[in-house]
Amino acid sequence: MIPQEIIDQILDRLDIVEVISEYIPLKKSGRNFKACCPFHNEKTPSFVVSPDKQIFHCFGGCAIGGNLIKFIMKHENLTFPEAVRIAAAKAGIALPKYERPDGESNSLASRLYEINNTATAFYQNFLRSPKGKGALEYLKKRGFSSDIISEFRIGCAPDSWESFRKYCESKKISAELARKAGLTIPSEKGKGDYDRFRKRITFPIFNERGNISGLGARVMDNSLPKYINSPETVIYSKSNVLYGLNFSKKSIRAEGYAILVEGYMDVIIPYQYGVTNVVATSGTALTSRQVDLLKKHANTAVMVFDADSAGVAASLRGLDILIENGLNVRIATLPEGEDPDSFVREHGKEGFMKEINAAKDLFDYKLDLLLEKKGKSDIGGVADDMLPTIAKVQNAVVQSDYLKKLAERLGVHEASMRYEMGKVKPDYSYHYASEAKVDVEVTNYRSSELHLLGLALSAKRVFTLIQRELGLHMFRDINVKKVMDMLERFYDENDENINVGKLMSRMENDADAGSAVVQAIAKAEITQDIDKAVQDCMICVKKENREEKLKDLTSQLKKAQASHDDTGVIDILGKINKIHKEKVA
Ligand code: CTP
Ligand code: MN
Repeated sequence: MIPQEIIDQILDRLDIVEVISEYIPLKKSGRNFKACCPFHNEKTPSFVVSPDKQIFHCFGGCAIGGNLIKFIMKHENLTFPEAVRIAAAKAGIALPKYERPDGESNSLASRLYEINNTATAFYQNFLRSPKGKGALEYLKKRGFSSDIISEFRIGCAPDSWESFRKYCESKKISAELARKAGLTIPSEKGKGDYDRFRKRITFPIFNERGNISGLGARVMDNSLPKYINSPETVIYSKSNVLYGLNFSKKSIRAEGYAILVEGYMDVIIPYQYGVTNVVATSGTALTSRQVDLLKKHANTAVMVFDADSAGVAASLRGLDILIENGLNVRIATLPEGEDPDSFVREHGKEGFMKEINAAKDLFDYKLDLLLEKKGKSDIGGVADDMLPTIAKVQNAVVQSDYLKKLAERLGVHEASMRYEMGKVKPDYSYHYASEAKVDVEVTNYRSSELHLLGLALSAKRVFTLIQRELGLHMFRDINVKKVMDMLERFYDENDENINVGKLMSRMENDADAGSAVVQAIAKAEITQDIDKAVQDCMICVKKENREEKLKDLTSQLKKAQASHDDTGVIDILGKINKIHKEKVA
């Protein structure tokens, strides 16, 4: 038993927000912090950490909660004493050493780590034994140095069905545990278990702290499958690991970015050549858990792609996950058929770093690729592919910049690009009111006013024309009027054509005005002949104004007649006549 006062001391010294941040990225939300719950699958964050109360709680599906020790237990699949041990280490508090009466009371997780470590050592020994000569030669031929083989604890599984199982028997390691770790597999004929890894190079897969969660194993020829990995266990899930992170995290922090590659070889060989900030996704599409792991160490990832890999387009979609999580993504391309392993061996660290330094921003990379594929003629198609990516950019400034760049490169009006953005991202600040609501409201005169607003937004010249020939007082829609008044001031200060983004940032809290701008831009965007449209709309607005006034006067007239207000009736009739005369003129 660990004394309560020590546990209290640990909890006094640690802050739950800091501890949990080491595992998952937390976002401030009022007094609390939020995240997507790591204990169940969800898209909107319902996992809350309270710094005041020093507890976490999931309000979503799993309803888990507790203090930081409970979090460590849950997250790492550990027993309470094991979690306390980890917390104590973080707090810099020494725990009294004590012997466990029997190993079985350890958590399954720590027993799995232990047996994976045993297996790793077993395969390492075999590689260095006379029977491992062929495997060692294979590794040497592929450029592995003796040091790197040791550092990454590479080994070789014997060409046998039972050598590891027998080793376990001799060491009194439970057969059940070996099976649970996936190191052995129960035979169907009931003849006892057989080894999973046979006649393969073995790569232990370390977790971030350097414990071995599983193993990957490669054949030494061209047979299939090329790799076999440990099955999913409580400590190993292929999609939760970034291979190499335990080795590279220091360097990732120092460099400020991680180089993201696909395979074990692509981590180890570059590492040997001095490129040490590398991690691998192990052949899977990048997962959000992997992104979380990365983000603890750097904000930028450089992905390395084979120039012609068939999956590039598919992988690009996968990259949205990086962007969504606020990572900067750059893409380096290697010549067709090369991977980091082969490229580094051929061109050395310098050659490889040249490619890394020339990495393109994901935005440019994707856009170039799309333009190449679809061509300039399919602007709409290119935009359709780019906008969802841009929609996921977390930083509003960066997002706005991307939109502007996209509009520029496609040669369209920035405002219309923003409008399209509103369709992709309904909560985009430029797209306030729902379409349905607007449709009902649109009358002919409002439509003309909106159209004029849109045209006025497109050029100062047009605005001046409307101001002079119609007058801003003629606008009856309060939102159109409001924006027109803003425009007047804006054009007063700025001689240039207007940056609608800037203008809209001034109406952040005015959803209706924002909506008016969006609708207006949509209308103006499809206009062919601007000058004719301006004239038509002005006539329409004037006409509508007159009709509005007539309607108004007619109802006044009725009231006056009803109340026998003769002077009133004469006065109103005069006004009505005047309007009719104007119409004829
Ligand atoms: N992989 C896997 N299972 C497979 C094939 C691949 O788990 N059957 C994973 C491995 O982590 C591998 C990565 O995907 O490292 C990339 O695969 P690939 O590019 O085919 O292998 P390399 O690592 O490049 O290995 P090599 O250079 O020896 O071919
Ligand atoms: Mn390779």
